[in-house]
Formats: sequence, C-alpha cells, structure tokens
Amino acid sequence: MSVRVDMRSDTVTRPTEGMRAAMAAAPVGDDVYGDDPTVNALQERVAAMFGHEAALFAPSGSMANQIALQVLVPPGSELLCDGDAHVVTYEIGAAAAIGGISTRTWPACGPDIDPDLVASLVRRPGFGVPTRAIAVEQTHNQAGGGVIPFGTLRRLREVADAEGLALHCDGARIWHAHVADGIPLREYGALFDSMSVCLSKGLGAPVGSLVIGSAEKIARARVVRKRMGGGMRQAGILAAAGTYALDNHVERLADDHARARRMAEAFAGYGVVDPERVRTNLVMLDLTKFRLDATEFVAVAAERDLLANAMTPRLVRLALHLDLDDDAVDRAIEVVSGILAA
Ligand SMILES: Cc1ncc(COP(=O)(O)O)c(C=O)c1O
Repeated sequence: MSVRVDMRSDTVTRPTEGMRAAMAAAPVGDDVYGDDPTVNALQERVAAMFGHEAALFAPSGSMANQIALQVLVPPGSELLCDGDAHVVTYEIGAAAAIGGISTRTWPACGPDIDPDLVASLVRRPGFGVPTRAIAVEQTHNQAGGGVIPFGTLRRLREVADAEGLALHCDGARIWHAHVADGIPLREYGALFDSMSVCLSKGLGAPVGSLVIGSAEKIARARVVRKRMGGGMRQAGILAAAGTYALDNHVERLADDHARARRMAEAFAGYGVVDPERVRTNLVMLDLTKFRLDATEFVAVAAERDLLANAMTPRLVRLALHLDLDDDAVDRAIEVVSGILAA
C-alpha cells in the first residue's frame, strides 16, 4: 500500500519537532489576566507586522472573525460580503446568532470583486437595516485560494470611506497572498479596520488566530472573546507554536504555491481547473462536466490513498501544505489523472 497523501486541508499538518520544542520551552502565565509573556509577544509582533496598534490571540479563525464582526457591526445592522465567504458559509450562523448581525451577500465571485456593485448594495441609515461593514477574504478559500488584486481592495477602502463603513479582512491565508503577490503585510494592514489571521492554515501551528486592529477595538475584542468563551489561560504554549510558524514557515509557502500550480497544470487537459487561476496553495477541481460528483470522487480517491475535500456537490479541493513534498504531489497527480481519465 502506498503512503497516504492528505490534501483535504492545509490544517491537517502536525507540529514539527522544532515547533514542539518551542512550545515546551515557552514561558507562560494566565492570559485572561494578560500575564502570558509568549502570548503578549506574539500579539505585539503580529500587530506590528500589519502596522496596527494591537492584536488579540484567539483559538480559531472562526472565533477571530466573529469577534471582529461583533466589534465592527452593532446588533441589528448589516455586514456585506461575498456569497461564498467563510464568515457566511462556514461559521454556522454565528454573526446572526451571537452578534445579532444581518449578513447580505454579493453574488459569489471569489477574488473578482466589483467595488461598484458592492457600493450599490450599501444601505444607508433610514432605509432598513443599515450596512456597517464590508468583509473580504484574502485569499479566498472557496474560490481555490484566489488572490483579490490589491487595486480592488483599495477601491473597496474608498467605498467604505465614502459610506462611513468599516472594512474587515478574513485573512486566514493572508500570508499566502503576501507570498504570491509580494504585497507587504503592512500595506494590507493599512487598508483594513480589522483583520483576522490564522497560524494553523498552511503555517503548521496546531491552533491559533489573531484579531488585529486599533487599541480601542482590541480592548473591546478582548471582552467579546471572553463572552464567547475564548479566554485561554497558559496559552503561551500555543502562541509559541504560532511564533515558530511565523519565524520558519511563511517564506516556504512559495513551495506550496509552485506545487499547487504543477498539479493544476497536470489536470488542465481535463478541463477541471485553469492553472492561471491557481495562485496559492489550493487547487479546486470543477467536476461539472464529469459524471462523478464530488463526494464520489473523494471516495474513489480515498481508496487510492489520496484524501481530498468535497467542497460542494461539484467542487473538490486539494490543499498543499507543510507536510507534503514533491513525491506526494506526484502521487496526487497520478491518482487524480487516473480517475479523470477513467
Ligand atoms: C478563509 C477562512 N476563514 C476562516 C476560517 C476558519 O478557521 P478555523 O477553522 O480556525 O475556525 C477558515 C478555515 O479553513 C478559512 O478557510
């Protein structure tokens, strides 16, 4: 039997030896009292990386997003985002259930956002539920790791400013966008009122995300995190993994991107993916023209020791990450090509 290749997600990584050693050695304190030196250092570092005043460590990307949204959008008002955005598709109604936030979406378009369309959706006070914030996702998960062009983000900032709205970035994979396009993290930071970033997607940390913003917003975020049960105690053990990931695993994302592109090129002849659209570490196969639906495809691949993710009835995601090398990519190409050829 061949070695199993796990491409379900870039979150399936195991902490490396070096990361585990850093976790074991981390000085810790009670972070609910603000006493954990490793958490504090990570928060300060990440805030500075994005040119913001403050950051807050959170257990997950979903919680980091939802904390930020509750800080930006008062109950009974509205968030605008893409129809396939993680905040509305995968966060189990949290914005409405916990924050009392209405979410309205523009038609899913991944990174190809039309800022004029977004502007046309804004509802001003006095005309129903008022819009208070716009959220974007960089990179865009459901759109196969697509990177929103920086010029589009700038125009969205102008829309937000013109309408008095906040702009949030779900930057779970902002590192991947930074490596793909070379846009400095501080330039991203300058565009957004709040960001969430993840250390557990592609960077190899077992846990951990941060909310980033002004000191005033992060002070409020701390209260929201506590209300959501996200206050952790000796969390420095986890923050140390994140610090190690930032030190060692950001630049290497370029390898994942190159491997993803190599896979996309291998599959292009089947008409399931456009390699030009594969900019980062995710390869989304569109099986519309094949008889197999995504769930069946994933089951057949698993029998051949390739684990993939059925994202929708017709979309299968293959994710590159730290624990996969060129041999794993060769194996995935062989399995997927075998299924598509049959
Ligand atoms: C774009 C995006 N945002 C947020 C999240 C949520 O992260 P978590 O699973 O840590 O809650 C994910 C998870 O994959 C994601 O892809």
